[in-house]
Amino acid sequence: MAKFDVDSIKEDFPILKTEKEGKQLVYLDSAATSQKPNQVIDAISDYYRTYNANIHRGIYEIAEKATEAYTDSKKEMADFIGADSYEEIVYVRNTTEAINLVALSWGERNIEEGDHILISEMEHHSNIVPWVLLSKRKKAKLDYIKVGDDYKLDEQSLEEGLEKQPKIVAITHASNVLGTINDVKAITEKAHKQGSVVLVDGAQSAPHMPVNVSDIGCDFYALSGHKMLGPTGIGALYGKSDILNSMPPIIGGGDMIRTVEFYACTWNDIPWKFEAGTSNIEGGIGMRPAISYLKSIGMQNVFEHEVKLTKYAMKSLSEIDNVTVYGPEPDNDCHAGVVSFAIKGVHPHDIASIFDNYNVAIRAGHHCAMPLVTQILNQSAVARMSFYIYNDEKDIDKAVEAINEVKRIFKIK
Ligand SMILES: Cc1ncc(COP(=O)(O)O)c(C=O)c1O
Repeated sequence: MAKFDVDSIKEDFPILKTEKEGKQLVYLDSAATSQKPNQVIDAISDYYRTYNANIHRGIYEIAEKATEAYTDSKKEMADFIGADSYEEIVYVRNTTEAINLVALSWGERNIEEGDHILISEMEHHSNIVPWVLLSKRKKAKLDYIKVGDDYKLDEQSLEEGLEKQPKIVAITHASNVLGTINDVKAITEKAHKQGSVVLVDGAQSAPHMPVNVSDIGCDFYALSGHKMLGPTGIGALYGKSDILNSMPPIIGGGDMIRTVEFYACTWNDIPWKFEAGTSNIEGGIGMRPAISYLKSIGMQNVFEHEVKLTKYAMKSLSEIDNVTVYGPEPDNDCHAGVVSFAIKGVHPHDIASIFDNYNVAIRAGHHCAMPLVTQILNQSAVARMSFYIYNDEKDIDKAVEAINEVKRIFKIK
């Protein structure tokens, strides 16, 4: 792609043409879920209209076509994130399920009383709660890498956490509140030297930047399809094949077995060992055009576009009195397309609902990162804009207009 052409990208997203009271939708909540292009919507509809059948079972043509489309989607996913093969891609519902799978399967087998588990203060609940549950079950110790005043991980706290030789380090690649991008490759290298296994939460990175799990070197990587142009209800857990092979299944049923006797079973190969029952076939099939769409733009282009928008938004907001932005300075490409902010004296829910009058969709709340928002940022909630390929500077200008309206209504200087 020679030039990043947002106007032609917007054309592919029918929802962006919808209006409320004459105002076109400005969607600034892609960190929650992305919008879907026609290519994805059409692929799902085509599946239901022309080859709907269960996978891995039928010997007839449409069942074979559905099986092939689902498996091809995994091959596309493996290539997209740099996995060695599709066997390392387990399809799950979302990032949350991917992390829970690791905590329940790998964690049950490998964590013992007194062991350390290392995560950070900037994690989403989905990368906190499974470890809280596991550490309570196993009487293990859950340690946190601190977030510094610069909204980045505190290096000393990271070193101290690693010195305890945690069994697993589970860390987000990009924060959904601060936008901070963590150097997960460097963390993985250090963690491996301590003998730790590393899980990367890729919910906010896979959709927005080039990701290569082999280069990062992590053992697990979790992502959600719905945040990267794909359908809801489909996500992926990448796991190195030797580790996935060593893990027990956590859900039993059809498809995940090789043989079943009345009192004994043997398991299917990876990744199918972890996918019991009928899969989310439409989800898998919808992921393929989503990935192809992102590939056709190029992930480096996606990333640079979002960094440009982030810089523009942070500069625009910094020029407005009584607005605070939470996140690192967007230099050195360390800040992904998420800008959290507060307006002095106004509850973020009021901000979001006044934005809604402008048909500008943003998110307000603790963003499923309560410890970070309440204890590190000392806020009950923050407002958040998040960007994607279909956003441009004009969308941010509309948000700035809405902020000025909030200030006018609440009589803030
Ligand atoms: C960093 C991060 N991790 C995990 C998740 C959970 O994703 P899902 O709800 O798709 O499981 C999110 C969702 O916003 C997120 O931003």
